[in-house]
Parts: sequence; structure tokens; C-alpha cells
Amino acid sequence: MSATDFPQWMRAIQARTEDALRHALPPLKVAPDRLHEAMRYAVLEGGKRVRPLLVHAAGAVAHAKPAVLDRAACAVELIHAYSLVHDDMPCMDNDTLRRGKPTVHVEYDEATALLVGDALQSLAFAQLAERGLLAEPARQLDVLRQLALAAGSRGMAGGQAIDLQSVGQTLTREALEVMHIHKTGALIRASVRLGALCGTPLGSDIETRLDTYAKRVGLLFQVVDDILDTEADTATLGKTAGKDADNDKPTYVTLLGLDEARRLSAELEAEALEAIAPLDASADLLRALAAYIVRRRF
Ligand code: IPE
Ligand code: IPE
Ligand code: MG
Ligand code: MG
Ligand code: MG
Repeated sequence: MSATDFPQWMRAIQARTEDALRHALPPLKVAPDRLHEAMRYAVLEGGKRVRPLLVHAAGAVAHAKPAVLDRAACAVELIHAYSLVHDDMPCMDNDTLRRGKPTVHVEYDEATALLVGDALQSLAFAQLAERGLLAEPARQLDVLRQLALAAGSRGMAGGQAIDLQSVGQTLTREALEVMHIHKTGALIRASVRLGALCGTPLGSDIETRLDTYAKRVGLLFQVVDDILDTEADTATLGKTAGKDADNDKPTYVTLLGLDEARRLSAELEAEALEAIAPLDASADLLRALAAYIVRRRF
């Protein structure tokens, strides 16, 4: 794939993800309309859609049907959007800006934000539970199970619990890695796994390689998020810059300093690329995505 094709591919996947999400979300005028409006506010017209991009890129390796990948992409993005709504609440990071707009609890209220998260999470699983989505029911159950595990207490929600427990503490490098691979890595890893599961079986060698790629990219994503929190400005980020320091959060920047955190992100990118090096050109989208995740400005 040429360097000019990737941005075009990215825009196309972002657009089809937007359509799929718009279609999956409850309509505005259906009761309870305030909840439905807030759900659409939280999900639509915002975000980089990195997880859907990973679903589609991994799906390309497994020759999965784009319409099936749309479902998986939608499900993962709905879980992600729910995690952001809750992450921003006063009981967690207490943020007022997300994707360039007031956070859900600010625009609506805290109870609505709580319910938006709840409802987005169940909508995500409903997306994947449709009869016949995959030809093999056992494989479809695997998709559901992988997403459930990634979102739960041994995945994203568990990582968020560690994050909250760690406020004001200096973590060891190992403990910080455990926090990041759960709160952010788990859903990124699931995105790659779901994309692959939507296609034809790849065999254990390629599956293991994709999983190693996904684990490195998952950690990498949060290392870069930590860097951007200190480096970028609020207008570019669309969320409050410097929030980690304000909230006294341990991050890769507080632990290692900016230069070392940048060096680590380059190292993780190299490891991700090395894991999928033997794969053919069907993995080029995954390669380009790893590069995008390291070099993104927001
Ligand atoms: C932000 O995720 C929260 C993290 C898990 C680091 P993204 O940077 O993917 O946020 P959006 O979806 O583009 O807004
Ligand atoms: C968020 O981590 C992780 C999840 C939402 C699961 P952060 O708290 O660093 O995310 P931002 O910086 O608010 O987007
Ligand atoms: Mg947080
Ligand atoms: Mg936050
Ligand atoms: Mg952050």
C-alpha cells in the first residue's frame, strides 16, 4: 500500500464506521429521548476511530467481509465510547471536555452519563449477538466472549480500577505497564482479535503474531496518550491538556520523562512491526496504523 492510500483508507473506514454507528444507535425521537440523544452525543461525530480501524485492518489479513467487520468495529467503538463517558465523570477523571465538546455529564447530568455508559455497553453486545452474523456460531460466541473479557474486570474496567487506586502514587515500571495494558491495551488487543475472528482461520502462528502486534500497539497507544497529555494543547487534543498532572496520575512521562517515553514508543512500534514482519501485504494496513498511532498529534 502506498503512503497516499493509507489516509484515504482511513477516511473511508471512519466514514463507514460513522454510518454503522448512526444506524446502530437508537433514534433521537424514540423514548427515552433524552437518554438516546445523550448516547448519540457521546458516540457520533467524534474520535479517531482507532479501534474500528484496527478491526478492519486485522480483518483484511483474514479476508473478512467488510459488512461483518462493521459490526465488530461498531461494538468495540461503543465500548470505548462508554469507557470515555465514565472516565470523564467527577468520580473518575473529572473532565469537562471530550472530543472538542463538553463531556456528557456536563452537557446532560451525571445520572444520564452513567446510564449512557450502561446502555452503550449493552448495545455493543447486541451488535454482535445477531443470529447468523458469522457462519460458525462457535466463532461468533468467541467474538462475544473476547469483547466481554476485554471490557471487564480483568480488562478495561480492571485497568480503570488500578488507575484510580494509583492516584498520587509512584508506580514501578511493571505496575504502570499492568495498568496501561488493562485500561487501554485490552480493548485494542480485542479489536485486532475480533477483526481476525470475523474472517477465515489464520492458523496459530499468524494469530500469535497478530496478538503480539496488538499487545505492543495497545501499550504504545497509552504511552503516546500520556505523552500527548503533557505535550499537546487542549484545542488540538479536544480534551483538557495536562489533566494527568492535575489529577496526580502516574504516567509514562512522570515515571520515565518525555525523552525516554518517546524512546519507548519507538521501541514498541518496532516490536509491533517485527511481530508481523513475515506477513504479506495484507498486513500493510496494520503496519501503517502502528506508524499513525506513534506519530499522531491528538
Ligand atoms: C482516549 O482514546 C482514551 C484512551 C484509551 C487513551 P482515543 O485517543 O482513542 O480517543 P478518541 O476515540 O479518538 O476520542
Ligand atoms: C482512559 O485513559 C482509559 C479509558 C477510558 C479506558 P485516560 O484517562 O488517560 O484517557 P483520556 O486521556 O481521558 O482520554
Ligand atoms: Mg482515566
Ligand atoms: Mg481521562
Ligand atoms: Mg490520558
